Formats: sequence, C-alpha cells, structure tokens
Amino acid sequence: MLFDSHAHYNDRKFDGDRFEILDSMGKNGIGYIVNAADSMESIDKILPLCEKYDFMYAAVGVHPEEVGTLCEADIDRLREFSKHKKVCAIGEIGLDYHYDDVPKDVQKYWFDRQLTLAEEVNLPVIIHDREAHEDCLNILKKHDIRRIGGVMHCYSASCEMARDILGIGMYFGFGGTVTFKNAKKVQKAAEVIPLERILLETDCPYLAPEPHRGERNSSLLMHYVAEKLAEIKGVNVEEVEEVTLQNAKRLYGI
Ligand code: NI
Repeated sequence: MLFDSHAHYNDRKFDGDRFEILDSMGKNGIGYIVNAADSMESIDKILPLCEKYDFMYAAVGVHPEEVGTLCEADIDRLREFSKHKKVCAIGEIGLDYHYDDVPKDVQKYWFDRQLTLAEEVNLPVIIHDREAHEDCLNILKKHDIRRIGGVMHCYSASCEMARDILGIGMYFGFGGTVTFKNAKKVQKAAEVIPLERILLETDCPYLAPEPHRGERNSSLLMHYVAEKLAEIKGVNVEEVEEVTLQNAKRLYGI
C-alpha cells in the first residue's frame, strides 16, 4: 500500500475526471493521500473531497506565491480549518525565489506566521522551498519543528543541507523528479537520507515520473518513484512502500 504525502486533486487539471480517478485509488494500491492546499480558495474545494473519501486527508496553508494578499483574518480562518477532523498538517507553506511576484520580505513574514500557527495548533508542516534554501532553514530553526514535525516537500537541495534538516528532525518528500535522468543531485540526496526519513509524494498534477514525464501526474504513477528509490537504496520495493507508509502515518498522526 502506498501513501501519497503531497497531492493537489483540487487542481483544475482534474476537473474532467476527478471522481473517476479518486474512485480507482483503492484497487490500485493507494492507501492514503494528503491533499495540500496552495491558496485560501483551494481549501473550499479540498475539504469536501476529504469528507467524501476516507483515504484522503488535507493540509491547510498558503503557498509563498499566493501570500501577497494574505491578512491576519486569513490566519484566523486557517486556525478554524485546522480543527476539521481530516486536516492533518499546515501546508504547503514556505519560500519561492524562482519568481519575484511576491517580495521576499512578504514571503518570509507569512512563512514565519504560518509556522507559529502550526506550533499553536500542534500540527506538522509541509514546506515548499524553491531556490530559497538558506532563508528557509533559518526561519525553520526559529520554530520548534522537532515537536510538531515537518516535511521538506519535493526535496531539491544538497546533501549538506539535508544534514541540517535531519538535525531538526524533519522528513523529506521525494516524487517524480528523483526519476529524471538529469536529477543527479536529487538522487544523491535520496541516497544519503535514511529511508526512515523519506516520504513518497506526487505533487500531482505536476512532476510526473519517468517514463511519463511531461504528462499529467497522479498517485497512480507513484510506484515508479518507489521503484527508483528502491534501486537507489539497494532494497526491495516492498520495503520502500512499507517504511514510507509508516513514516507518513507517524508524521501526520494518521
Ligand atoms: Ni505542491
């Protein structure tokens, strides 16, 4: 049984066949899915899906590219959402310096603010870090991540940074990128990080693994990621499935 620790089934790319594809998860070995929010509006689509599907859980939070218009009343709404029985994390939150639509100071403020909320409501965090590794780690270190738990989603930084993140007790999410032929850095990180700290994820509809790179992604393709990790780690795929399943259940308290 596989645990998809990070997906976006609220995305409009699933508008044509969302229920059909989610109905097929069980018979294809997908046991659990955490659907991460990206904006306040996305949460209104995500919570009904979690109520419809037993295997589906939610993370509530606002992605760094969406924090430009955030206000303190939104934090109050996130606090209310966090009480929902299927909400298991705050996310995805973080920093994204790839695009400069939202100023860095604004991103840092709301990242820090949402981490404080996670500490307050005692939920783990799902972290988005794109080209912002140093600032991201510095802000994480100001918070009690060891107590609440967290995952660096779609891990893409160095082995050196992985040691710092292991040091604050976090998990690492690996998805389609680990299967890409040019992703040597990501593969090297997956090699040195203990399997006990790794989660499987899709980030679907994005980042489909080889041999489906460029297509719409879904949890049904996640076995390619498990197989690649088994190859990198030199263990069998059943071990990867079982250990990552237990890791995700531990982190999210499921
Ligand atoms: Ni995502």
